[in-house]
Amino acid sequence: MLKLIEKKKRGKALSDQELHEMMAAYVRHQIPDYQMSAFLMAVWFQGMDMAETLALCDAMIQSGATLDLSGISGVKCDKHSSGGVGDKTTLVLAPLVSACGATVAKMSGRGLGHTGGTIDKLESIPGLRTDLDPETFYHQAKTIHLVISAQNSQLVPADGMLYALRDVSGTVDSMPLIAASIMSKKIAAGCDAILLDVKYGEGAFMHDRAQAEALSQCMEEIGRQFGRDVKCVLSDMNMPLGNAIGNILEVKEAISTLRGNGPQALQALCEDEGSIMLMQAKLAASYPEGKAMIRAAMQDGRGLRRFREMVKAQGGDVSCIDDPSRFASAPFIFTVNSSCDGEVRMIHALAIGTLAMELGAGRQSLHDTIDPRVGIVLLCHKDMKVCRGDPIAQVHAASPLDQQWLDRLQKAIEIR
Ligand code: URA
Repeated sequence: MLKLIEKKKRGKALSDQELHEMMAAYVRHQIPDYQMSAFLMAVWFQGMDMAETLALCDAMIQSGATLDLSGISGVKCDKHSSGGVGDKTTLVLAPLVSACGATVAKMSGRGLGHTGGTIDKLESIPGLRTDLDPETFYHQAKTIHLVISAQNSQLVPADGMLYALRDVSGTVDSMPLIAASIMSKKIAAGCDAILLDVKYGEGAFMHDRAQAEALSQCMEEIGRQFGRDVKCVLSDMNMPLGNAIGNILEVKEAISTLRGNGPQALQALCEDEGSIMLMQAKLAASYPEGKAMIRAAMQDGRGLRRFREMVKAQGGDVSCIDDPSRFASAPFIFTVNSSCDGEVRMIHALAIGTLAMELGAGRQSLHDTIDPRVGIVLLCHKDMKVCRGDPIAQVHAASPLDQQWLDRLQKAIEIR
């Protein structure tokens, strides 16, 4: 391992065999995390070329089982986001697309850095299991047409281990590591059609559109090599998506959106991406038709019913879906008011995501447990006029807040 770290540190490409041996040894716990962290940092600085990124992705796939979904009729669809703040899109989009007739079988991740993760959000539903073995995953995809699992000791274990390590070693925002992480899960889960939401902006790992385009091209190429239909949508992550940031708070917002009462930006993104997925699944002949199908599944409650079925199948307490007031709530709920008159110019996603992580909505070190109850609910939006003293955010916290944290929240919501 030391030789491989040295090689990468000096900017040389690792061979296919070296990467396969490294991933196989890592999942057998034969490489310590401190050496793997050093390797990840070397990749962060030196990058990887396309052949090396493909080899890393394949080595991660080969670290566990791969699923064959060919026994399920129709096009099997998957979706993944490169990570953002307040991004609960999967919780809304996956059930809607499934309710429109597609099978959505998806492997998701936990929160990374200041961004949230679908698995942490789903696990905030009492009892819900995300550690599904390949047989359970397949059975649920076949019977309910909607399943969301985490990486685990059987499915892409290398990604599960690397993902947790990257989160706490400052190595998340590396293009080859993101591409291999996302695509290893997508290929191993066995879907034919994959929609990737590649986010750019201050709250994303790719800070500008050009970087997001490069990441998209890299993931499309991996998809091509594995014979999958990959489409990418680039979306803005300079501001949080929707109003809620934090696990239970986001699940509640996803339920409202499935009831047709969600924030406009979230609903529009789900219609856009849902329509593309329905075209990939050959269920919609055109983009407007796909959008209309998604809207209808939202309006008549089919999406919410499908979400409820998935929660039930994965052992979750459906009474929380029927009545979201049953979710646990944080012991301290504070309203933050505007300190001046003016207009909301910007809501800074990176600052809001970091503040939510510090409340306990995300992890700062490997063994941190998250508090599903905590987070921030925005009560204002860009361009809104506010007066001094108007409420601009609600904070859900496990303990009283210090003034410095509150000052940073005031700064994150820029009013002039
Ligand atoms: N999502 C993933 O699954 N992996 C990453 O590295 C980033 C976002």
